[in-house]
Amino acid sequence: MDDKAKLPVTIAISGAAGQISYSLLFRLIVGDLLGLDQPIILRLLEVPQVIGQLEGVAMELEDFASPILAGLSCHSDPLEAFKDADLVFLVGARARGPGMERADLLEVNAEIFAEQGWAINAVAKRSVRVLVVGNPVNTNTLIAISNAPDLDASQFSGMTRLDHNRAVGLLARTCEKPSTAVEGVIIWGNHSTSQYPDFHHATIDGCPVVACVGQEFEASFIEIVRRRGAEVIRVRGKSSAASGAHAALCQMRDWLKGTPKGSWTSMAVVSDGSYGITPGLVFSFPVETHDGHWRIIEGLALDAASEALIKASEAELLQERDLVGHLITRPPAHHA
Ligand code: LMR
Repeated sequence: MDDKAKLPVTIAISGAAGQISYSLLFRLIVGDLLGLDQPIILRLLEVPQVIGQLEGVAMELEDFASPILAGLSCHSDPLEAFKDADLVFLVGARARGPGMERADLLEVNAEIFAEQGWAINAVAKRSVRVLVVGNPVNTNTLIAISNAPDLDASQFSGMTRLDHNRAVGLLARTCEKPSTAVEGVIIWGNHSTSQYPDFHHATIDGCPVVACVGQEFEASFIEIVRRRGAEVIRVRGKSSAASGAHAALCQMRDWLKGTPKGSWTSMAVVSDGSYGITPGLVFSFPVETHDGHWRIIEGLALDAASEALIKASEAELLQERDLVGHLITRPPAHHA
Protein backbone atom coordinates (compact mmCIF):
# COMPACT_ATOMS: atom_id res chain seq x y z
CA MET A 1 0.00 0.00 0.00
CA ASP A 2 1.30 3.47 -0.77
CA ASP A 3 1.25 6.23 1.85
CA LYS A 4 -1.85 7.80 0.41
CA ALA A 5 -3.95 4.62 0.62
CA LYS A 6 -7.10 5.05 2.68
CA LEU A 7 -7.46 3.24 5.98
CA PRO A 8 -9.93 0.35 5.77
CA VAL A 9 -13.52 0.85 6.89
CA THR A 10 -14.79 -1.98 9.10
CA ILE A 11 -18.30 -3.16 8.20
CA ALA A 12 -20.17 -5.67 10.38
CA ILE A 13 -23.19 -7.57 9.08
CA SER A 14 -25.55 -9.72 11.14
CA GLY A 15 -27.57 -12.48 9.52
CA ALA A 16 -24.65 -12.79 7.14
CA ALA A 17 -25.55 -16.25 5.81
CA GLY A 18 -29.09 -15.17 4.93
CA GLN A 19 -30.60 -14.27 1.57
CA ILE A 20 -30.38 -10.46 1.85
CA SER A 21 -26.76 -10.66 2.93
CA TYR A 22 -26.02 -12.99 0.03
CA SER A 23 -26.74 -10.02 -2.23
CA LEU A 24 -25.41 -7.31 0.04
CA LEU A 25 -21.96 -8.78 0.73
CA PHE A 26 -21.01 -9.17 -2.91
CA ARG A 27 -22.16 -5.62 -3.68
CA LEU A 28 -19.95 -4.37 -0.82
CA ILE A 29 -16.81 -6.04 -2.13
CA VAL A 30 -17.22 -4.61 -5.63
CA GLY A 31 -17.27 -1.09 -4.18
CA ASP A 32 -20.98 -0.34 -4.52
CA LEU A 33 -21.13 1.36 -1.11
CA LEU A 34 -17.88 3.27 -0.70
CA GLY A 35 -16.18 3.02 -4.07
CA LEU A 36 -13.30 1.01 -5.45
CA ASP A 37 -10.67 3.15 -3.76
CA GLN A 38 -11.88 2.39 -0.24
CA PRO A 39 -10.58 -0.81 1.39
CA ILE A 40 -13.09 -2.57 3.64
CA ILE A 41 -12.91 -5.19 6.36
CA LEU A 42 -15.98 -7.43 6.64
CA ARG A 43 -16.99 -8.97 9.94
CA LEU A 44 -19.79 -11.47 9.46
CA LEU A 45 -22.11 -12.47 12.31
CA GLU A 46 -24.36 -15.50 12.40
CA VAL A 47 -26.03 -17.74 14.93
CA PRO A 48 -23.90 -20.80 15.75
CA GLN A 49 -26.28 -23.17 13.88
CA VAL A 50 -25.37 -21.68 10.48
CA ILE A 51 -21.74 -20.73 11.01
CA GLY A 52 -20.82 -23.62 8.68
CA GLN A 53 -22.85 -22.10 5.83
CA LEU A 54 -21.32 -18.73 6.60
CA GLU A 55 -17.85 -20.18 6.09
CA GLY A 56 -19.01 -21.16 2.58
CA VAL A 57 -20.15 -17.59 1.88
CA ALA A 58 -16.76 -16.38 3.14
CA MET A 59 -15.04 -18.73 0.66
CA GLU A 60 -17.02 -17.20 -2.20
CA LEU A 61 -16.14 -13.72 -1.00
CA GLU A 62 -12.47 -14.68 -1.05
CA ASP A 63 -12.88 -16.10 -4.54
CA PHE A 64 -13.86 -12.68 -5.90
CA ALA A 65 -10.24 -11.65 -5.28
CA SER A 66 -11.66 -8.22 -4.62
CA PRO A 67 -9.01 -5.50 -4.59
CA ILE A 68 -10.78 -3.71 -1.72
CA LEU A 69 -11.41 -6.62 0.63
CA ALA A 70 -8.74 -6.01 3.28
CA GLY A 71 -10.02 -8.45 5.88
CA LEU A 72 -12.77 -11.00 6.42
CA SER A 73 -13.86 -12.94 9.48
CA CYS A 74 -16.86 -14.97 10.66
CA HIS A 75 -18.26 -14.74 14.18
CA SER A 76 -21.05 -16.03 16.37
CA ASP A 77 -20.26 -13.59 19.18
CA PRO A 78 -21.59 -10.04 18.61
CA LEU A 79 -18.81 -8.62 20.80
CA GLU A 80 -16.26 -9.94 18.31
CA ALA A 81 -18.25 -9.09 15.20
CA PHE A 82 -18.94 -5.46 16.16
CA LYS A 83 -15.46 -4.73 17.52
CA ASP A 84 -14.28 -1.38 16.11
CA ALA A 85 -17.03 -1.41 13.49
CA ASP A 86 -17.50 1.82 11.53
CA LEU A 87 -20.69 0.63 9.89
CA VAL A 88 -23.15 -2.05 10.97
CA PHE A 89 -25.95 -3.65 8.98
CA LEU A 90 -28.31 -5.51 11.32
CA VAL A 91 -29.88 -7.81 8.76
CA GLY A 92 -30.54 -10.97 10.76
CA ALA A 93 -33.90 -11.39 12.45
CA ARG A 94 -36.04 -14.34 13.40
CA ALA A 95 -38.82 -15.03 10.88
CA ARG A 96 -42.28 -15.88 12.10
CA GLY A 97 -42.55 -19.63 12.72
CA PRO A 98 -45.65 -21.87 12.80
CA GLY A 99 -47.99 -20.94 15.64
CA MET A 100 -46.06 -17.80 16.49
CA GLU A 101 -48.16 -14.72 17.22
CA ARG A 102 -47.05 -11.25 16.17
CA ALA A 103 -46.34 -10.41 19.80
CA ASP A 104 -44.05 -13.48 20.07
CA LEU A 105 -42.20 -12.36 16.96
CA LEU A 106 -41.73 -8.87 18.36
CA GLU A 107 -40.52 -10.29 21.64
CA VAL A 108 -38.01 -12.76 20.21
CA ASN A 109 -36.55 -10.14 17.87
CA ALA A 110 -36.50 -7.49 20.56
CA GLU A 111 -34.27 -9.79 22.61
CA ILE A 112 -31.87 -10.22 19.69
CA PHE A 113 -31.72 -6.47 19.01
CA ALA A 114 -31.32 -5.63 22.70
CA GLU A 115 -28.26 -7.87 22.84
CA GLN A 116 -26.87 -6.45 19.60
CA GLY A 117 -27.49 -2.83 20.66
CA TRP A 118 -25.68 -3.57 23.90
CA ALA A 119 -22.74 -5.17 22.07
CA ILE A 120 -22.46 -2.29 19.57
CA ASN A 121 -22.51 0.13 22.49
CA ALA A 122 -19.70 -1.80 24.14
CA VAL A 123 -17.25 -2.34 21.28
CA ALA A 124 -18.07 -0.46 18.06
CA LYS A 125 -16.32 2.78 17.05
CA ARG A 126 -17.87 5.80 18.80
CA SER A 127 -18.71 7.18 15.33
CA VAL A 128 -20.50 3.97 14.21
CA ARG A 129 -23.55 4.16 11.95
CA VAL A 130 -26.06 1.32 12.35
CA LEU A 131 -28.69 0.43 9.76
CA VAL A 132 -31.41 -1.98 10.92
CA VAL A 133 -32.86 -4.14 8.15
CA GLY A 134 -34.35 -7.10 10.07
CA ASN A 135 -38.10 -7.02 10.78
CA PRO A 136 -39.98 -5.61 12.61
CA VAL A 137 -37.57 -2.87 11.57
CA ASN A 138 -38.83 0.19 13.45
CA THR A 139 -39.23 -1.50 16.80
CA ASN A 140 -35.97 -3.44 16.44
CA THR A 141 -34.24 -0.10 15.83
CA LEU A 142 -35.89 1.39 18.91
CA ILE A 143 -34.72 -1.55 21.02
CA ALA A 144 -31.16 -1.37 19.68
CA ILE A 145 -30.99 2.38 20.37
CA SER A 146 -32.34 2.03 23.86
CA ASN A 147 -29.70 -0.57 24.68
CA ALA A 148 -26.85 1.59 23.40
CA PRO A 149 -26.83 4.40 25.98
CA ASP A 150 -23.35 5.69 25.13
CA LEU A 151 -24.19 6.29 21.49
CA ASP A 152 -26.48 8.93 20.07
CA ALA A 153 -29.88 7.80 18.83
CA SER A 154 -29.12 9.54 15.54
CA GLN A 155 -26.40 6.95 14.85
CA PHE A 156 -29.16 4.39 14.17
CA SER A 157 -31.73 4.20 11.41
CA GLY A 158 -34.24 1.62 10.26
CA MET A 159 -34.68 0.71 6.62
CA THR A 160 -37.73 2.08 4.85
CA ARG A 161 -35.73 2.71 1.69
CA LEU A 162 -37.12 -0.49 0.17
CA ASP A 163 -40.65 0.95 0.44
CA HIS A 164 -39.35 4.28 -0.88
CA ASN A 165 -37.71 2.59 -3.88
CA ARG A 166 -40.86 0.56 -4.51
CA ALA A 167 -42.90 3.78 -4.57
CA VAL A 168 -40.42 5.49 -6.92
CA GLY A 169 -40.34 2.45 -9.23
CA LEU A 170 -44.13 2.23 -9.34
CA LEU A 171 -44.56 5.92 -10.20
CA ALA A 172 -41.82 5.76 -12.84
CA ARG A 173 -43.41 2.71 -14.48
CA THR A 174 -46.87 4.23 -14.34
CA CYS A 175 -45.70 7.46 -15.98
CA GLU A 176 -43.30 5.64 -18.34
CA LYS A 177 -40.37 7.73 -17.13
CA PRO A 178 -36.96 6.77 -15.75
CA SER A 179 -36.85 6.44 -11.96
CA THR A 180 -34.40 9.36 -11.84
CA ALA A 181 -37.26 11.65 -12.94
CA VAL A 182 -39.13 10.96 -9.68
CA GLU A 183 -38.45 13.20 -6.64
CA GLY A 184 -40.16 13.90 -3.34
CA VAL A 185 -41.80 10.57 -2.49
CA ILE A 186 -42.21 9.98 1.26
CA ILE A 187 -42.72 6.84 3.31
CA TRP A 188 -44.21 7.76 6.67
CA GLY A 189 -44.37 5.48 9.71
CA ASN A 190 -43.83 1.79 10.15
CA HIS A 191 -42.27 -0.68 7.69
CA SER A 192 -45.53 -2.61 7.71
CA THR A 193 -48.90 -2.42 6.04
CA SER A 194 -49.74 0.62 8.20
CA GLN A 195 -47.07 2.72 6.45
CA TYR A 196 -48.22 5.73 4.47
CA PRO A 197 -46.56 6.03 1.06
CA ASP A 198 -47.22 9.69 0.19
CA PHE A 199 -46.99 11.11 -3.33
CA HIS A 200 -48.50 14.53 -2.54
CA HIS A 201 -45.11 16.27 -2.61
CA ALA A 202 -43.67 14.11 -5.38
CA THR A 203 -42.78 15.32 -8.84
CA ILE A 204 -41.90 13.67 -12.13
CA ASP A 205 -39.59 15.73 -14.31
CA GLY A 206 -40.47 18.65 -12.05
CA CYS A 207 -44.29 18.35 -12.52
CA PRO A 208 -46.59 17.15 -9.72
CA VAL A 209 -46.95 13.36 -9.86
CA VAL A 210 -50.68 13.66 -9.44
CA ALA A 211 -50.91 15.43 -12.80
CA CYS A 212 -49.47 12.31 -14.45
CA VAL A 213 -51.09 9.48 -12.49
CA GLY A 214 -54.38 11.17 -11.48
CA GLN A 215 -55.75 11.53 -7.96
CA GLU A 216 -57.76 8.31 -8.36
CA PHE A 217 -54.49 6.33 -8.49
CA GLU A 218 -53.66 7.24 -4.91
CA ALA A 219 -55.59 4.43 -3.21
CA SER A 220 -54.01 1.72 -5.37
CA PHE A 221 -50.57 3.36 -5.09
CA ILE A 222 -50.77 3.15 -1.29
CA GLU A 223 -52.01 -0.44 -1.32
CA ILE A 224 -49.46 -1.67 -3.87
CA VAL A 225 -46.52 -0.19 -1.96
CA ARG A 226 -47.80 -1.38 1.41
CA ARG A 227 -48.36 -4.93 0.18
CA ARG A 228 -45.38 -5.26 -2.14
CA GLY A 229 -43.28 -7.26 0.34
CA ALA A 230 -46.10 -9.77 0.90
CA GLU A 231 -46.77 -9.91 -2.86
CA VAL A 232 -43.14 -10.76 -3.60
CA ILE A 233 -43.34 -13.55 -1.03
CA ARG A 234 -46.56 -14.84 -2.65
CA VAL A 235 -45.24 -14.78 -6.21
CA ARG A 236 -41.59 -15.68 -5.65
CA GLY A 237 -42.17 -18.01 -2.74
CA LYS A 238 -39.52 -16.18 -0.70
CA SER A 239 -38.97 -12.74 0.83
CA SER A 240 -37.42 -9.98 -1.24
CA ALA A 241 -33.65 -10.32 -1.07
CA ALA A 242 -31.78 -8.47 -3.83
CA SER A 243 -34.12 -5.46 -3.67
CA GLY A 244 -33.71 -5.40 0.12
CA ALA A 245 -29.93 -5.51 -0.17
CA HIS A 246 -30.00 -2.76 -2.79
CA ALA A 247 -32.20 -0.60 -0.57
CA ALA A 248 -29.82 -1.13 2.35
CA LEU A 249 -26.93 0.05 0.17
CA CYS A 250 -28.93 3.06 -1.05
CA GLN A 251 -29.88 4.08 2.49
CA MET A 252 -26.38 3.71 3.94
CA ARG A 253 -24.77 5.41 0.92
CA ASP A 254 -27.11 8.40 1.10
CA TRP A 255 -26.62 8.61 4.86
CA LEU A 256 -22.83 8.76 4.44
CA LYS A 257 -22.51 10.72 1.21
CA GLY A 258 -25.61 12.92 1.48
CA THR A 259 -28.84 13.44 -0.41
CA PRO A 260 -28.59 15.83 -3.36
CA LYS A 261 -29.28 19.46 -2.43
CA GLY A 262 -32.98 20.21 -2.22
CA SER A 263 -34.10 16.57 -2.24
CA TRP A 264 -34.90 14.02 0.42
CA THR A 265 -35.24 10.31 1.03
CA SER A 266 -37.16 8.24 3.60
CA MET A 267 -35.53 6.75 6.70
CA ALA A 268 -36.94 5.39 9.96
CA VAL A 269 -35.30 7.55 12.63
CA VAL A 270 -35.97 8.55 16.19
CA SER A 271 -38.73 11.16 16.37
CA ASP A 272 -38.00 14.57 17.84
CA GLY A 273 -41.73 15.34 17.88
CA SER A 274 -41.83 16.54 14.26
CA TYR A 275 -45.27 16.28 12.64
CA GLY A 276 -46.72 15.52 16.08
CA ILE A 277 -45.11 12.05 16.27
CA THR A 278 -44.37 10.84 19.80
CA PRO A 279 -40.77 11.79 20.63
CA GLY A 280 -38.51 8.76 20.91
CA LEU A 281 -40.54 6.55 18.58
CA VAL A 282 -38.65 5.23 15.53
CA PHE A 283 -40.72 6.51 12.62
CA SER A 284 -40.10 6.87 8.90
CA PHE A 285 -39.86 10.53 7.89
CA PRO A 286 -38.60 12.47 4.90
CA VAL A 287 -34.97 13.24 5.71
CA GLU A 288 -32.05 15.01 4.13
CA THR A 289 -28.63 13.62 4.90
CA HIS A 290 -25.11 14.95 4.96
CA ASP A 291 -21.84 13.28 5.92
CA GLY A 292 -23.34 10.61 8.21
CA HIS A 293 -26.02 12.88 9.68
CA TRP A 294 -29.73 13.12 8.94
CA ARG A 295 -32.27 15.85 9.49
CA ILE A 296 -36.04 15.56 9.28
CA ILE A 297 -37.51 17.80 6.57
CA GLU A 298 -39.77 20.17 8.45
CA GLY A 299 -42.86 22.07 7.53
CA LEU A 300 -44.36 19.99 4.71
CA ALA A 301 -48.09 20.69 4.40
CA LEU A 302 -50.29 17.68 5.15
CA ASP A 303 -53.99 17.40 4.44
CA ALA A 304 -56.37 15.82 6.95
CA ALA A 305 -56.36 12.44 5.18
CA SER A 306 -52.54 12.30 5.24
CA GLU A 307 -52.48 13.24 8.91
CA ALA A 308 -54.95 10.46 9.73
CA LEU A 309 -52.84 7.88 7.86
CA ILE A 310 -49.70 9.04 9.64
CA LYS A 311 -51.44 8.85 13.01
CA ALA A 312 -52.66 5.30 12.27
CA SER A 313 -49.09 4.13 11.66
CA GLU A 314 -47.95 5.90 14.83
CA ALA A 315 -50.68 4.07 16.77
CA GLU A 316 -49.37 0.71 15.51
CA LEU A 317 -45.83 1.63 16.54
CA LEU A 318 -46.96 2.71 20.00
CA GLN A 319 -48.62 -0.68 20.36
CA GLU A 320 -45.44 -2.46 19.26
CA ARG A 321 -43.44 -0.38 21.73
CA ASP A 322 -45.79 -1.35 24.56
CA LEU A 323 -45.34 -5.05 23.74
CA VAL A 324 -41.56 -4.87 24.19
CA GLY A 325 -41.44 -2.07 26.77
CA HIS A 326 -39.59 -4.22 29.28
CA LEU A 327 -36.59 -4.38 26.91
CA ILE A 328 -36.35 -0.61 26.55
CA THR A 329 -33.66 0.38 28.98
CA ARG A 330 -33.67 4.12 28.34
CA PRO A 331 -35.94 6.48 26.44
CA PRO A 332 -34.22 7.14 23.11
CA ALA A 333 -33.53 10.81 22.54
CA HIS A 334 -32.05 12.59 19.58
CA HIS A 335 -29.24 14.74 20.92
CA ALA A 336 -27.50 15.83 17.72
C1 LMR B 1 -40.29 -6.69 2.52
O1 LMR B 1 -40.71 -5.54 2.66
O2 LMR B 1 -40.05 -7.21 1.44
C2 LMR B 1 -40.12 -7.52 3.75
O3 LMR B 1 -40.06 -6.72 4.88
C3 LMR B 1 -41.27 -8.48 3.78
C4 LMR B 1 -41.12 -9.57 4.80
O4 LMR B 1 -42.02 -9.69 5.63
O5 LMR B 1 -40.13 -10.29 4.77
